[in-house]
Amino acid sequence: MDELNAVAKANGLVVIEDAAQSPGIRYKGRYTGTIGDMGVFSLNCHKIIQTGEGGVIVTDSDEFAGRLRLIRNHAEAVVATGMAVSSLVNMVGWNYRMNEVEAAVGKVQLRKLNSLLVRRRQLVDRFLNGVKGLSGLRPPSIREGCEHSFYRLMLQIDPDIIGFDAPVLVEILNKEGMDFYAGYLPINLFPMYQQQIAFGDRGCPFRCPWYEGKPDYSMDALPVVQRMRKVSFTTEVITHCIAETDIDEMIAAFHKVWARLDEVRDYAKQ
Ligand SMILES: Cc1ncc(COP(=O)(O)O)c(C=O)c1O
Repeated sequence: MDELNAVAKANGLVVIEDAAQSPGIRYKGRYTGTIGDMGVFSLNCHKIIQTGEGGVIVTDSDEFAGRLRLIRNHAEAVVATGMAVSSLVNMVGWNYRMNEVEAAVGKVQLRKLNSLLVRRRQLVDRFLNGVKGLSGLRPPSIREGCEHSFYRLMLQIDPDIIGFDAPVLVEILNKEGMDFYAGYLPINLFPMYQQQIAFGDRGCPFRCPWYEGKPDYSMDALPVVQRMRKVSFTTEVITHCIAETDIDEMIAAFHKVWARLDEVRDYAKQ
């Protein structure tokens, strides 16, 4: 964030933080979402706190706050007149209004935020203690000055030590009743980028005459992504609803697989 803010400042840019998963989480003592010019939080049903769907955007700029209120409500010129807004340049609005029932749920959730984060950390600590010492399994490292909300617990393996890649490990762990996930589909493989179509059927914006970029959306251009797909995976979503016994089952599944790594290596070779 320090570097992004510096680049933005030097170039007159606005920083909008995507803090969807990190309400109540600090970076160098400051809450995420308050470090840039604006910060957005998701309240979708599987976030740290939630209202079913929806979200919140925060800013300490009166100007941005006014524009956001308009964008939330179709950028209605009638409202803008009432708000004494003189310029509607770049103002295209939608219906992003949150209703009172959702807001009421959100206010109660907000009061619980801290205890929910503490609970997640306790569960993650229990899990990481339980799998400590399994060779080739790397827990996440949290950089100095950062906190982690542990929406999902990303783990890495060293394929050279365990002898197979993360997707095989996930397949085997899931046979033990886990619901883990072996990496997301990289964005560059989405049809929009592979077929270079987004708006209409004439390749906008990729083949737009004003667009001068020549991006390479092949996997060859992304060696780090290729490596991450081999070494990283995530647990199921960590929520405060998970019980200690669920975490203990996860730990037991890891130990069971690690006790039979030779068999998994043979399976992976087939
Ligand atoms: C980092 C991040 N940003 C944005 C979103 C999207 O949030 P929403 O579904 O509320 O638009 C998510 C959802 O998972 C997310 O993890």
